[in-house]
Amino acid sequence: MEKTERRPADPTAMAPLIRGLYLHTGRYPWVLMQSPPGETQIPSEALILDIAPARYDSHSVDTEYAAKILQDAYTAWEFDRAPAGVEAASRTERSKKVPSCVVVKEADAVLGMYWIDRDFDTVKARMESKNDALLTETPPPPRLGFNAAHRAEVVKNKIVLVTGGAQGIGEIIVRSLAASGALVFIADRNLEGAQTLAVDINAKEKRTAGIPLAVNVADEASVEALFKTLVTTAGGLDICISNAGVLKAGSVLYQSLQDFTFVTDINYTGFFLIAKHAGLLFREQHRTAPHWKTDLIQINSKSGLKGSNKNGAYAGGKFGGIGLIQSFALELVDYNIKVNAICPGNFFDGPLWSDPEKGLFVQYLRSGKVPGARHIADVKAYYEAKVPMKRGCTGPDVMRAIYYIIEQEYETGQAVPVTGGQVMLH
Ligand SMILES: NC(=O)c1ccc[n+]([C@@H]2O[C@H](COP(=O)([O-])OP(=O)(O)OC[C@H]3O[C@@H](n4cnc5c(N)ncnc54)[C@H](O)[C@@H]3O)[C@@H](O)[C@H]2O)c1
Repeated sequence: MEKTERRPADPTAMAPLIRGLYLHTGRYPWVLMQSPPGETQIPSEALILDIAPARYDSHSVDTEYAAKILQDAYTAWEFDRAPAGVEAASRTERSKKVPSCVVVKEADAVLGMYWIDRDFDTVKARMESKNDALLTETPPPPRLGFNAAHRAEVVKNKIVLVTGGAQGIGEIIVRSLAASGALVFIADRNLEGAQTLAVDINAKEKRTAGIPLAVNVADEASVEALFKTLVTTAGGLDICISNAGVLKAGSVLYQSLQDFTFVTDINYTGFFLIAKHAGLLFREQHRTAPHWKTDLIQINSKSGLKGSNKNGAYAGGKFGGIGLIQSFALELVDYNIKVNAICPGNFFDGPLWSDPEKGLFVQYLRSGKVPGARHIADVKAYYEAKVPMKRGCTGPDVMRAIYYIIEQEYETGQAVPVTGGQVMLH
């Protein structure tokens, strides 16, 4: 029989569990950062976690068991610092002290070291200076009422992934979330575009608000690598927005299988892959943070609710996306993951429609799709006239729906139209 080599367990698997523990005790979206490999000097105030008993096979750990070990280690840490009768680690009614560093060991070997703080830049500085001073956790006061003026605050400090975030609707989502205080991973096939956007928003926000990452959502190895990088960089995730999408219109009679598959692989299968790996990560956090709600949101389309002439590959993939949303919502509700779709109407201002060379306006003008149209303005007017509210969908329209869906804690499996009345639910 082939002998499997026993390798050190991958400590990255512990990051979402550790972040979950902090989400649970502090009800705050902490950022966790993993020290570069090779760090062995254990800070004196650190919480030590020995995962040896949770070893599962030659290279992985049973995270359900590891979650229990972590919870016990945390309770023991609190107990050690609070001899009988003394308030646990200077706990007051409203706040308590917690470790800012967690060291993951297996017996004597240090596997990984995680630093915890309120935002990306603070935790980075803490890790670089090896500052293990305790953190003060102050849970937010209970919300008694509802103030719509602060709706965007639902994303403040949260960690968000936006696929296809380099341009178009994705770019607007990234910019809006960053301006509302989120830490946004901008994942795109166009890494250069994501990098340029990250530099711009980081300068505007005067903090690390955007982190660019390369991904091809239609390739599982690429999606897996994306989530692994995200976990080592920030420890976990609160909101995943699956926005990457493509459109290649074509008649059912003439569209090539190649074009049909291209659209379907990205819009339909790509959403499945993102949902799968986001779901796995959210589930790990949920093991130690059972009350923390996470969001999986697909940017779908009005074409996911109503057929689209000579555009079947696109509409079919988007209709399918709603089937996935409803099914995933039923399964993932057990882990407090909400799963919803936003269905925007035509977004005329983005490159998909307005690009002067490849945009749909130019394409439709050249192909004579709009009877009598002689200029781009005629094509635009034709499509605007189809909307009861007589205009295209805009970034703020989409953002209002996103903030609603995140804030709403009592809804899942829904497809929210943002179409100016062009599509009505029945
Ligand atoms: N533009 C519209 O009118 C409209 C209307 C309704 C819904 N939508 C949906 O909104 C989403 C964004 O559309 P848009 O108009 O902003 O498109 P866009 O073409 O302007 O931007 C799409 C982004 O996704 C990226 N991308 C494409 N394939 C990818 C892949 N395989 N992996 C990773 N990234 C990839 C691109 O590089 C680009 O940055 C899509 O899902 C689209 O179906 C668009």
